[in-house]
Amino acid sequence: MTSLTLSNLCWSPLEKGHCHHQFQLRDVSLRVAAGEFVGLIGPNGSGKTSLLRCAYRFTRPTVGQVLLDDVDLWTQSPRWSAQRIAVVLQEFPDAFGLNVDEVVAMGRTPHKALFDGNTEADREIARQALQAVGMQGFEDHAFATLSGGEKQRVILARALTQQPQLLILDEPTNHLDPRYQLELLQQVKRLGIGTLASIHDLNLAAAFCDRLYVIDHGRIVASGSPHEVLTVELLRDVFGVEALIDDHPISGYPRITWITHP
Ligand SMILES: Nc1ncnc2c1ncn2[C@@H]1O[C@H](COP(=O)(O)OP(=O)(O)OP(=O)(O)O)[C@@H](O)[C@H]1O
Ligand SMILES: [Mg+2]
Repeated sequence: MTSLTLSNLCWSPLEKGHCHHQFQLRDVSLRVAAGEFVGLIGPNGSGKTSLLRCAYRFTRPTVGQVLLDDVDLWTQSPRWSAQRIAVVLQEFPDAFGLNVDEVVAMGRTPHKALFDGNTEADREIARQALQAVGMQGFEDHAFATLSGGEKQRVILARALTQQPQLLILDEPTNHLDPRYQLELLQQVKRLGIGTLASIHDLNLAAAFCDRLYVIDHGRIVASGSPHEVLTVELLRDVFGVEALIDDHPISGYPRITWITHP
């Protein structure tokens, strides 16, 4: 079981000459314990995607460390990270005319030598992943022809095929209808591996996340259980919106109802 730790991380898109106010991420510390589902919430442009990029070894922090258990990601190869961390991003990859089964099979790449083909065991892992996301039967479809939600589920299947120890998701429910939003998050939770997900829908975040971090202007401004974090004051301060918050009558999670004045 693997944990993720970001410690005192700062990041600036500028190569050099930066001073503190130019950092897009400022002194970010965050932990995903083994098996924990952690949500990252915050307004547009607050730094969620930038933070996740540091967490999966895409951008190197200017200051601070990213640790998988106690190993610094930047002391290891990109392949080492890809063998352990799977990522589902906000934008879809350019699939270059690949079929669904080929996109999903790409999840095995970090585990194979350069010219190794897929074994029957690899194909079985990919088949099970497609089944897990309800996309069996689409193997021969061109990825480019799928709907947004179907693409999202195939990309999740690719991540499952990677058999990761840690999962990073950037707004994974974006393109999904309500049923698949719930199914995707349930599936991810069932995997039981450490997961860090940015989620805009705060009711979904409240229902699925063990803990939440709130990011605003590149700083973590709150963290804790959904009940601790999701307060009327925080939503007003960070998102600039008014809300009623009560407990969901069936599940008991915090329930947010936006107050609007059309
Ligand atoms: N490579 C870059 N060069 C310059 N600015 C960048 C770069 N990457 C991110 N930024 C800026 O950093 C800020 C945070 O961006 P980021 O994509 O992390 O926000 P976000 O919280 O994911 O927003 P959203 O909810 O809209 O996805 C934005 O102002 C963005 O313009
Ligand atoms: Mg983003």
